Amino acid sequence: MDGILVKDITKRYGDKTVLNNISFHINRGEILGLIGPNGAGKTTLIKIMTGLVKQDRGEVLIEGMGYGKNAIAIKEKLGVVPQEIALLDTVSGRNNLEYFARLYGLTGKTLKQKVDEVLELTGLTEHQKKKVKTYSGGMKRRLNLAAAIMHRPEYLILDEPTVGVDPQSRNAIFNYVKNMNREGTTVLYTSHYMEEVEALCDNIFILDLGKEVAYGSKENLRRMLGENSTVSVETEENTAALIPVLQNLPGVESISEKADSLELLTNTQEFHLSQLIHTIENENQVIMNIRVQEPSLEEVFLTLTGKTLRD
Ligand SMILES: Nc1ncnc2c1ncn2[C@@H]1O[C@H](COP(=O)(O)OP(=O)(O)O)[C@@H](O)[C@H]1O
Ligand SMILES: [Mg+2]
Repeated sequence: MDGILVKDITKRYGDKTVLNNISFHINRGEILGLIGPNGAGKTTLIKIMTGLVKQDRGEVLIEGMGYGKNAIAIKEKLGVVPQEIALLDTVSGRNNLEYFARLYGLTGKTLKQKVDEVLELTGLTEHQKKKVKTYSGGMKRRLNLAAAIMHRPEYLILDEPTVGVDPQSRNAIFNYVKNMNREGTTVLYTSHYMEEVEALCDNIFILDLGKEVAYGSKENLRRMLGENSTVSVETEENTAALIPVLQNLPGVESISEKADSLELLTNTQEFHLSQLIHTIENENQVIMNIRVQEPSLEEVFLTLTGKTLRD
């Protein structure tokens, strides 16, 4: 089977269930966003997916292969950017990459070319001779990324790659991941920033306290879970006179009066925009502006868990 299959993964530490029956599938060529607040279980799940930690139950299959006798074949396909930065502080960025290149079995001219290439790709060429201890957090992150992609992995797994990173490095990492994906790399992108995941990912898995909160395409998550949209209506004059009429429309849950407009909280399933327009026209009012605002995924998360992602 293509892609990565995570099936019924359960993990306990002592009597604490850190992952509770987690299942999803990453199709070849997609970017899956794994999102959840601190302590959700993201890093544990990644460690299980990359063979560093053993699950109590369930299985991980990479192109149909499980760990065990296939561990080496799998590792050749994976590029992993761990949450903790693993670099040698006292030598240069370039030396670090050379070290990783040798681990991957590269030597001589190929090694040099490969190191040059990943330095360029992550925008570190001009900093390559500086010792890593002089690097900013963002540069260390980029160096970590450079090390993870040296062997051109088919699957790239990133654990919160933009935490503690300056905006410039954040953009560099972001664009880099997008480009890799365009060139065919399948990506698992972990974050607790919803806007990153919304911008980057096709499908999203929301994890909280080791449990699946929601899983699906961005659009589906919004539709399935975000039952309420806000509809703002502005008419030429006397907008407030519409309140008693609009209150009775199907799907209108509440109306609040703003300076020049009315704000309707609507239930997306029952509410129909055409009905709203007809009703206003029947009242002989002239519509100046109507705006429908769908809930953001951040709001979806808040609705489902009662907390924000930045807790
Ligand atoms: N080696 C470990 N021993 C005991 N508990 C752990 C260990 N690793 C993680 N945990 C616990 O598992 C939970 C999930 O942690 P983690 O996977 O790091 O979450 P996240 O990456 O989403 O912040 C936390 O409550 C954490 O304390
Ligand atoms: Mg983590």
